[in-house]
Amino acid sequence: MSELSSRARAGFTERFSREPSGVWRAPGRVNLIGEHTDYNDGFVFPFAIDRSTVVALAPRDDRTIQITTAYTDDIVRIGLDDVTPAALSGWSAYPLGVVWALGEFGADLAAARGFDAHIDSDVPIGAGLSSSAAIECAVSVALTEVWDLGFDRERLARVGQLAENKAVGAPTGIMDQSASLLGRADAAVFLDCRSLDAEVIPLGFDAAGLVLLIINTRVSHAHATGGYADRRASCERGAREMGVSSLRDLDVDDLDRAAQVLDEETFRRVRHILTENQRVLDTVRTLRLEGPEAIGDLLTASHVSMRDDFEISVPELDVAVEAAGAAGAVGARMTGGGFGGAAIALVRASELPVVADAVTAAFAARGFREPELFTVTAADGASRLD
Ligand code: GLA
Repeated sequence: MSELSSRARAGFTERFSREPSGVWRAPGRVNLIGEHTDYNDGFVFPFAIDRSTVVALAPRDDRTIQITTAYTDDIVRIGLDDVTPAALSGWSAYPLGVVWALGEFGADLAAARGFDAHIDSDVPIGAGLSSSAAIECAVSVALTEVWDLGFDRERLARVGQLAENKAVGAPTGIMDQSASLLGRADAAVFLDCRSLDAEVIPLGFDAAGLVLLIINTRVSHAHATGGYADRRASCERGAREMGVSSLRDLDVDDLDRAAQVLDEETFRRVRHILTENQRVLDTVRTLRLEGPEAIGDLLTASHVSMRDDFEISVPELDVAVEAAGAAGAVGARMTGGGFGGAAIALVRASELPVVADAVTAAFAARGFREPELFTVTAADGASRLD
């Protein structure tokens, strides 16, 4: 982490010929279970990971914003008065969308000073690990401090979500930003997306001799287009036809009635959400009562539901899950919005090489691009680094 921090500091100094006033970080996330439940006001159980985006930032004396990243040579330059969703595009829509959204949530942008910022990251982009939420949250915690806003983390999660919805144009829920802001080392965040009540629950993977393997399929996805928005629309239709304001108002006991009321496809979409909410509750309970090794079947059942009912998996994700399971993983599932990205496998540390080799071999046998494999641990949420 301090290496990333020094890199961001050096990148800032090189581009802006002065020192930043601070460096802030926000982690990516893995969702352990609870997929597509967030925008249905349901339950999710993600954790912040030990991969972060960092922003080195210093205020300016005028009202100009300049932002650079380690990935491009561009300098994006814009006046504070010109930051509106319509004016934003490309990568800078994430940090600048946050500037705009802070204003929507009450920051007095008319009185604010401009700033220079440089962004660096070790969260893989497009892998389903919320590199986008990591940028949003790193920028929002930095500006909260520099502009002395006093916003709490719940409000910052909403700021990040609004930026993503309106400036980036992806109709996503509140999970990723909540995980990035509220995460704790060796724990996951049990979040009720209706009330935003969050409980930090110890995972105990290390003590149980378990590791969490990420299998990045390198199949890239974008939630601003296509399937994600379709699924969201199906859920809204399902709720409407069932006579409720959101699918959170239903549970697995309503499935028989849903089968009568809904068309076959909408029924399967709704069944995924209702059973997934139940699986989140079961996972939290099982983790508490029996420990992490006992949650494996729930993870795998979640994948099956996403593959067959919600239909957001792709062959690479299915092969990853099947190969990991066959090689002895405790449980495995795709994580994130779907249509590409990464799968997770909960694996006994002693069996990690066997599982990793099996996944790599299965990809080769299917003629898929070689996956990127690495382990993550649950880390603390966004903070100031130096
Ligand atoms: C993406 C979105 C989240 C959530 C997940 C699916 O990561 O950003 O809000 O909907 O997909 O669970």
